[in-house]
Amino acid sequence: DWTPAAFVQETVDKIKAQVGDKKVIMALSGGVDSTVAAELIHKAIGSNLYCIFVDNGLLRKNEFETVLDSYKHMGLNVKGVNAKDLFYGELKGVSDPEKKRKIIGRLFIEVFQQEANQLKDISFLGQGTIYPDVIESVSVNGPSVTIKSHHNVGGLPEKMNMGLVEPLRFLFKDEVRRVGREIGISDIFLGRHPFPGPGLAIRILGEITPEKVAMLQEADAVYIDGLREAELYDKVWQAGTILLPVQSVGVMGDERTYEFTVALRAVTSVDGMTADWAHLPYEFLAKMSNDIINKVKGINRVVYDISSKPPATIEWE
Ligand code: XMP
Repeated sequence: DWTPAAFVQETVDKIKAQVGDKKVIMALSGGVDSTVAAELIHKAIGSNLYCIFVDNGLLRKNEFETVLDSYKHMGLNVKGVNAKDLFYGELKGVSDPEKKRKIIGRLFIEVFQQEANQLKDISFLGQGTIYPDVIESVSVNGPSVTIKSHHNVGGLPEKMNMGLVEPLRFLFKDEVRRVGREIGISDIFLGRHPFPGPGLAIRILGEITPEKVAMLQEADAVYIDGLREAELYDKVWQAGTILLPVQSVGVMGDERTYEFTVALRAVTSVDGMTADWAHLPYEFLAKMSNDIINKVKGINRVVYDISSKPPATIEWE
């Protein structure tokens, strides 16, 4: 019978045997998989695991600082790399969703490779690949038709020419969570909603600017904190805020405004392949609308996305 405790013991032994006293480099994303994988490798080889956590400027509000801090508390040997300006610079003027994904994927590899080159004698690449990634490596929408190209911290190995350490390769998501719990990883990581590799870039429809990112981060933080406060966060599979590329007329005091709209998205799902829009309470939505419009400068309208997948997708791009 499979148990998390036995898995951890066996996996740590295997990593020790595979890696010996050589060095492993690994990119962390703040998500469940890379965090659990890193902690397993860390248990096996300690500070011979070199972790890289890249700030692409497209993470949630305060996410980079908070997550980097948590990694350090876990004792991981981690370097935070601020690459915001590089990403903003290359994304400037780009509106096409697939182009955005390609640019972000390419820059991520470049940044990671540059960090890897600065470290000497790295023999292995650690990755948080899980079984569903292995069986459908093309896209979450199925292996035959690519509706959206998929970029996350996977996709590194061929070019890097290193051995792979993938401790979660045969696990499903719920097993990864159980292993994580077994080795004491905080619920902040284990219970976290999925977040796409390209981050807020695909939740800002059209062109990305640092100002739009900041606006969306504020609105999104109100929404996500609100979900947690109302104890709704764990009841939905994923939630997020989308900044629409339209401005509309509003009124504030006796002034006319002409500002942006955000759409709130929350879905229930098992695996992200299909999803239903979450029937959040009207009172909650009303509060979110008020809070966002009152707190976030530049937004005067909030809408709720009531589309399911299919035919819609979870993300808007
Ligand atoms: P869609 O929008 O295709 O999303 O219904 C399904 C799930 O996949 C996530 N997603 C991505 N994750 N890189 C990722 O790492 C991507 O390019 C990407 N696109 C979508 C999305 O957040 C949802 O959980």
